[in-house]
Amino acid sequence: MRQRLFEPIPSSEITPESVYLDRRTVLRGLGAGLVTSLVGCDGKAEARAEVMPSATMPAAIPNLKTWPGSSQETKTSYRDVTGYNNFYEFGTAKGDPALRSGRFKPKPWTVEVSGEAEVTGRFDLDDLLKGITLEERIYRLRCVEAWSMVVPWNGFPLATLLNRFKPTSKAKYVRFETIQRPAEMPGQRSAIMDWPYQEGLRIDEAMHPLTLLAVGVYGRWLPNQNGAPLRLVVPWKYGFKSIKSIVRIRFTESQPHTSWSDMAPDEYGFYANVNPAVDHPRWSQASERRIAEGVSVFKSRIETRPFNGYAEQVASMYAGLDPKTLY
Ligand code: MTE
Repeated sequence: MRQRLFEPIPSSEITPESVYLDRRTVLRGLGAGLVTSLVGCDGKAEARAEVMPSATMPAAIPNLKTWPGSSQETKTSYRDVTGYNNFYEFGTAKGDPALRSGRFKPKPWTVEVSGEAEVTGRFDLDDLLKGITLEERIYRLRCVEAWSMVVPWNGFPLATLLNRFKPTSKAKYVRFETIQRPAEMPGQRSAIMDWPYQEGLRIDEAMHPLTLLAVGVYGRWLPNQNGAPLRLVVPWKYGFKSIKSIVRIRFTESQPHTSWSDMAPDEYGFYANVNPAVDHPRWSQASERRIAEGVSVFKSRIETRPFNGYAEQVASMYAGLDPKTLY
């Protein structure tokens, strides 16, 4: 049951909740294959959270630096970026994170740093951000469910922060953990996943100049649903690697456990590099649906690119490794 959480186009996206709950009850009896084909062929408008930006938008971030490598593609709207989310701590429907994260308090915030580094301890996020230049970087985001967005993140290279802790030669990986606060995160009150959500990168991936720690989006501080106050963005990997609301960073010698590959090792690997040639066991990864308001499911499909279009920058890190092991 748990392994079935990710679906390419969940029924929750395309019909109002009251209808799809009913429909799901009916469809459960018909078999999962049929459910997938039915939802995949439905061209109706998606149900997103009705986020009214003017009322809920966080404050603007001053002095953002422009980054020359930004994607030139059309940006996904603020409404979609903040209303169509995966953040299971707040529920599994795309609108849940925006609708159910109002009680979450991202301030004050501390990050615990531990493991194979000379400098470890608990640090206040405001202190960690002192002296750091925040940039705007427009990256493609490709979810393993085969939808994608183009998002103007605001943040800084993860390496800028990690280097301050002086990792030792034993630091081969970096592990990240999301906060666990069931009182504020309704999804954590049910056992849909083993909380807390955890992710990891190899140290060279973590230090790669494209790997970003985001504190904002669209020039404003991150809304709760996007992983306030601090989330990872790894643009050449499937979106589930981009862990939200990070409270722990640990330098490790061995490969850390990661939530999705622990839960369904046949479906999600540690590397999770975007690869159109390696299908998910239950759906194709050759193309993706670019999320855009008013565009039908059929018209918005585009080809998925190796490493999500960032091959030139990152492929050399995986030279000599079998691409199948990198999925
Ligand atoms: N981080 C946590 N803690 N919990 C989650 O459920 N979902 C992941 C990732 N980070 C997730 C998470 C997935 S599957 C995706 S596609 C991205 O967040 C979505 O980021 P967005 O909602 O900001 O677009």
